[in-house]
Amino acid sequence: MDDLLERLRDGLPAEALLTDPDVTASYGNDMASFCAAGTPAVVVLPRTVEQVQHVMRTATDLRVPVVPQGARTGLSGAANASDGCIVLSLTKMDRILEISPVDRIAVVEPGVVNAVLSRAVGEHGLYYPPDPSSWEMCTIGGNIGTASGGLCCVKYGVTAEYVLGLKVVLADGRLLDTGRRTAKGVAGYDLTRLFVGSEGSLGIVVEAVLALRPQPPAQLVLAAEFPSAATACDAVCAIMERGHTPSLLEIMDRTTVRAVNELANMGLPETTEALLLAAFDTPDPAADLAAVGALCEAAGASEVVPADTVAESELLLQARRMSLTALETVKSATMIDDVCVPRSKLGAMIDGTAAIAQKYDLTIGVCAHAGDGNTHPVVCFDHLDPDESRRARESFDEIIALGLELGGTITGEHGVGVLKKEWLARELGPVSLELQRGIKQTFDPLGILNPGKLF
Ligand code: LAC
Ligand code: ZN
Repeated sequence: MDDLLERLRDGLPAEALLTDPDVTASYGNDMASFCAAGTPAVVVLPRTVEQVQHVMRTATDLRVPVVPQGARTGLSGAANASDGCIVLSLTKMDRILEISPVDRIAVVEPGVVNAVLSRAVGEHGLYYPPDPSSWEMCTIGGNIGTASGGLCCVKYGVTAEYVLGLKVVLADGRLLDTGRRTAKGVAGYDLTRLFVGSEGSLGIVVEAVLALRPQPPAQLVLAAEFPSAATACDAVCAIMERGHTPSLLEIMDRTTVRAVNELANMGLPETTEALLLAAFDTPDPAADLAAVGALCEAAGASEVVPADTVAESELLLQARRMSLTALETVKSATMIDDVCVPRSKLGAMIDGTAAIAQKYDLTIGVCAHAGDGNTHPVVCFDHLDPDESRRARESFDEIIALGLELGGTITGEHGVGVLKKEWLARELGPVSLELQRGIKQTFDPLGILNPGKLF
């Protein structure tokens, strides 16, 4: 331990090292519940690429595990510390190095907060779409590590589609350049994409070239009330089948709506079984909302209310973004799932989740990026009640199993981390798993990068 600190101090300013156990303990975990977390030996807050290289060389020499972290808003335990590790917090590397309206790219350090980047590129008439609900806090490095999604993905896609190139410090301290800053590029294997979603297990991202789009017009949101999740899902399918391009298509079930009202007095309609939010950022959003509103009515919506103003629309988005936080107040604990199924199976997924809730006698609130088939069933339970805790865990697993049965994936956007480790092998199968382990071995032969995550 003394040796570790001494070696780290050799290449780092004093303020970059945190050793007070009370302080380092606060870097122990991300926002996932019920995921094992260890006690870090030290937290390092580098400001330069060279400092990150120094940390990795030291870690390699001394065989010390390194756990990279952003804002720790993750929901799978991927940023949880392991015992005796170096927590490598990239939050101080938070500069936007370049914004180019001609090339439509931004070059950023990993600690830049998603919303800060969004606003900065907005000043140039540009748009960085990936928008996790935690966008005011989460960092681009964390978004890359977990391949984050968000609300606008139904139209604009997820983080992976916006990462063009990376600078990565490897386990032994070498600096790897991947990808490009050009609009096209097919030279060699796509290592950039490999790093997106690798959860800090292959290297430390220290710079990213991100693709930008022209800023679309502000979106207008419609809220539609449905008597059942099934009818709301029918509307989702009709909207997509007819070729509409909503910039957002979300479902909140009754439990979620109530929780949001309770938390923030939002005045959302509580009699609805499923509230569907659809938005358009097209040149004539009102016309698109009218067309989609008609499809909602045809599917059985009891009420369709298009927002008149952008401000009203923003309020509805805020209500959706706070869903998870609101559901966390229903009981003393939650487990949040992230199963993504083919859109056509969304109704079966949500109905199946309701049946699981009934079977286990639990409250499971569901909000969903409905347009993506990406559901977030949130199991609400009393963690001091052992029987309810057991039922919560079993229902959580049954929801994942149902997602796989329906042709889906165990995680649409939150990642594997610690939470879904046991499930990864089941989704990948033995051939893919063996190859993935081989990739890990190539990049991290000593197994010091975020050990215990993913596999
Ligand atoms: C959301 C997070 C939980 O969709 O992914 O709000
Ligand atoms: Zn989500």
